[in-house]
Amino acid sequence: MTQTKLAVIYYSSTGTNYQMAKWAEAAGKEAGAEVKLLKVAETAPEAAIESNPAWKEHLEATKDVPEVSLNDLEWADAIIFSVPTRFGNVPSQFKQFIDTTGGLWFQGKLANKAVSAMSSASNPHGGQEQTILQLYTTMYHWGAIVAAPGFTDDSAYAAGGNPYGTSVTVGQDGKMVEDVEASVKHQAKRTVSVAAALQSLNN
Ligand SMILES: Cc1cc2nc3c(=O)[nH]c(=O)nc-3n(C[C@H](O)[C@H](O)[C@H](O)COP(=O)(O)O)c2cc1C
Repeated sequence: MTQTKLAVIYYSSTGTNYQMAKWAEAAGKEAGAEVKLLKVAETAPEAAIESNPAWKEHLEATKDVPEVSLNDLEWADAIIFSVPTRFGNVPSQFKQFIDTTGGLWFQGKLANKAVSAMSSASNPHGGQEQTILQLYTTMYHWGAIVAAPGFTDDSAYAAGGNPYGTSVTVGQDGKMVEDVEASVKHQAKRTVSVAAALQSLNN
């Protein structure tokens, strides 16, 4: 069996989804995968970023994280996405990247990858589940295999019980409300395992 290649792809304005992606990266490595941690390019206007010190600070702190490219998608056997909720949907930065994948999709190069997604929002019912499901709709078009965590591990309960993918509430202070680290790590390991089980489809 060849080593599973995991791409952890995130977008984050103020660091929450970056932290979740870092936990997924660590768990993917623990599971024996070759892992790339990749950010989606920032496309917001300078004025918007300047108006939010936490956003500006996070952008600066993560300037050395490589930006995801189409080659990374082709490379990966497993992909974990982590994106914040924007009005119950994925951020435009992420959608802009997704909308560059038409060529790969047309060539069938996105099919049979094991994928799962994570999210965050300011409110406990602010759209986390819907954001993950919106993202999965695109995955069905790709022909990817969605490896949602369901309740395959008890860590889901402490994390708030989102079976579609780990999600977290971000408090007014910018800190995570639920303890989601174990749930993120379980989800990452499960996605790597599903990708390994799919190897015969991809060789
Ligand atoms: C334009 C915009 C729309 C948002 N929409 C929602 C929303 O629908 N529900 C919610 O609870 N939080 C919403 N939020 C809050 C973000 O989801 C929250 O800041 C994010 O999850 C933090 O993740 P990050 O630290 O990785 O950027 C919104 C934030 C922005 C800037």
